[in-house]
Amino acid sequence: MDRNLALEIVRVTEAAALASAAWVGRGDGRAADSAATAAMRECFDGIAFRGKVVIGEGERDEAPMLYIGEEVGGGDGPEVDIAVDPLECTNSVAYGRSNALAVIAIAPKGKLLHAPDTYMEKIAVGPEAADAIDLNASPEENIGRVAECLGYKITELTVVILDRERHEYLIDRVRKTGARIHLISDGDVSSAIAAAMPSTGVNLLMGIGGAPEGVLAAAALRCIGGAMQGRLVPRNQEERERALKMGIEDINKVFSLDELAQGEETMFAATGVTSGDLLHGVLFRKDGATTESLVLRQSSGTRRYIKSHHYFRERHPVTILDQ
Ligand code: FBP
Repeated sequence: MDRNLALEIVRVTEAAALASAAWVGRGDGRAADSAATAAMRECFDGIAFRGKVVIGEGERDEAPMLYIGEEVGGGDGPEVDIAVDPLECTNSVAYGRSNALAVIAIAPKGKLLHAPDTYMEKIAVGPEAADAIDLNASPEENIGRVAECLGYKITELTVVILDRERHEYLIDRVRKTGARIHLISDGDVSSAIAAAMPSTGVNLLMGIGGAPEGVLAAAALRCIGGAMQGRLVPRNQEERERALKMGIEDINKVFSLDELAQGEETMFAATGVTSGDLLHGVLFRKDGATTESLVLRQSSGTRRYIKSHHYFRERHPVTILDQ
């Protein structure tokens, strides 16, 4: 795949982040999500590729844009599968909290797991502890092994966990090991990637979050060389059937990183909407705004942090504010 595609898709996440950032703290997650989705959809038209959304805003009948199966792109160029979350952490934007991102992963056709919109149990770490994690092992075993691989005492390790009632048992067990815990209100894509990057202050992600978010995080970790495992946690029979329909026969299967995002040509871009473990959020200025993005390319292993200054001279990208 053309390496410039990675730099094209970051323009798309920037547009989505700018559009949704106008809604921070205004209590309207739906408006924030629609603004991000419309901006992302519009920007795709300017990119020379033939993309098919495999992880998106929902099924065709429930999402007007970026639905699963929608074809996007300028019509020429490589055929790719796309996983998108125009606004990961809708509530963080609605209520002015951290970790919200606009995210895209692309890979050659057929290389991203078509995950149903259910929960997924996840564990993720960086390259140094890649061989240490096992979703079938206990939290205590995983923590011990990861600490050993990183050369940390357990009390120096920080585990990031979504602050949810369903995680009470996990939080309790992690606390008993002596490890530190960073509880997040939302945003396990950002935190899974942060756990795999040096100097972010978090070392291991554990717990249950969204399955589509799991595939997005896995795409980034493939580029970084980290590790992740995921197991679907359907909430009911309907979700089990949906998984089956999407080709997942063994619902208890532990997916390795290679199965969540296959191949050697994955690309990933994310732009911060609100600041979090990984990226700074959008900063508005009198003549525009500044965004911070992360762009990853698996085949080269390049990690680019891109700080962009956007000037709103001609057309204010936050068009929804003008309505
Ligand atoms: P949304 O953008 O869909 O709201 O996702 C935010 C998020 O926190 C994800 O990062 C996480 O995977 C998922 O929600 C967890 O789901 P829930 O809020 O139902 O526990």
